Amino acid sequence: MKVAVLGAGYVGLVQAGGLTYLGHRVRLGESNLVRVDELAARKIPIYEPGLGELIERAFDNGLLSVHSSNFEAVADADVIFLTLPTPPNGDGSADLRILESVVEELAPVLSDEQVLVTKSTVPVGTADALVQRLRARGSGAGVVSNPEFLAEGSAVADFMRAERIVIGAFEPAHADLVGDLYSGLPAQLVKTDPASAELVKYAANAYLATRLTFANAIANISEEVGADALQVLEAVGMDRRIGPHFMRPGPGYGGSCFPKDTRALLSITHQLDYPFPLLEAVMATDELQRTRIVDRAIEMLDGAAGKRVCIWGVAFKARTDDVRDSPAIVIARGLRDAGATVVMTDPEATTDEFLQTDDPLDAARDADLVIVATEWPEFRRVDLTDVAATMRGRIVYDVRNLLDPDAVRHAGLEYVALGRPTV
Ligand code: UDX
Repeated sequence: MKVAVLGAGYVGLVQAGGLTYLGHRVRLGESNLVRVDELAARKIPIYEPGLGELIERAFDNGLLSVHSSNFEAVADADVIFLTLPTPPNGDGSADLRILESVVEELAPVLSDEQVLVTKSTVPVGTADALVQRLRARGSGAGVVSNPEFLAEGSAVADFMRAERIVIGAFEPAHADLVGDLYSGLPAQLVKTDPASAELVKYAANAYLATRLTFANAIANISEEVGADALQVLEAVGMDRRIGPHFMRPGPGYGGSCFPKDTRALLSITHQLDYPFPLLEAVMATDELQRTRIVDRAIEMLDGAAGKRVCIWGVAFKARTDDVRDSPAIVIARGLRDAGATVVMTDPEATTDEFLQTDDPLDAARDADLVIVATEWPEFRRVDLTDVAATMRGRIVYDVRNLLDPDAVRHAGLEYVALGRPTV
């Protein structure tokens, strides 16, 4: 099929690459000329495992082209994916201005047979509103909602091994058209109406955020009562009604989706005048997780003023360079505000807010405390005896349960892990 993908961000690039892998011809539209040039030179603007190879292969096969003009990109496309930014407004609602202006721009040139597909996370009712907007401009083009569920760091694999593909369409023929695009994938197709499809995305992310926040609360309680949260949560997850996934305790959620989507869903419920105290409590509890970690770290330091803290991890999780709402940075800010000097390190992500070095050992030099705030496996391979020799303090505070407790203790260090007994 002939496809256009508008917006060469993280979602658009994976979508474009993935569809070419399935044999479709994709024209990628991007308004940022620097990015267009970079892509034309085969430079991928983000770190995402496997994405570079996918895009490279698509160019080699002649299935992918990049266009600075959306008109050019959509010219003969059967399906047009909108993978455009929907940043949060001040009240948490999604800002749809970019999406709307692109639809306005395209309305005069679209044929009635072409179908626009929203891939970005958008408020429930957006597909309906876009149809109205198109009709007001005299366009009979179709609109479908097909939310993405990719997780950063595994987005390419998530595309290839999607569990479900949700397609919300007003007309069965449009659902079939979009469904056919994915026919090479083993995923289950869920064909529904656009409002339901739009809500699935918010519901899934809000549920995962809730589940994770619950696991974090159990981890905190475990610390207080001397239980081992990893064992508690593993046993809880053995109940098939619960399942084992998404229960790894840590510093709370970050990234581009959960913070934004939970806020956006809450803003939707405010507009509906529907009280959702559960979601409000999740968001507040999640924030407290970072505060708790900062407070515990300050306790371990016996006051942060004048102390040096090394934080392993900058990105919001491993295998990404994304620092949006990164818990590691929030923890770093808390410690800096309490008077500590913070040095950070990460294999891919960078921040100009704090001192940063590439080498985890360098980062630990003279540190009074080392905090492990990432799950990058690289950090498991750091020689802990060298860490012990270079740091000033004795405590390693592992808020991701990444390290082997015995190995840390064996190196002569004290190991404090989130949700686990300290001894
Ligand atoms: C998430 C959803 O998984 C994805 O479906 C959606 O499209 C976008 O949002 P992502 O933000 O890339 O993807 O990260 P994810 O791996 O889901 O993790 C979210 C946050 O929860 C991270 O901060 C992560 O560290 C944290 N997390 C996740 C845990 O602390 N423990 C877990 O067990 C799982």
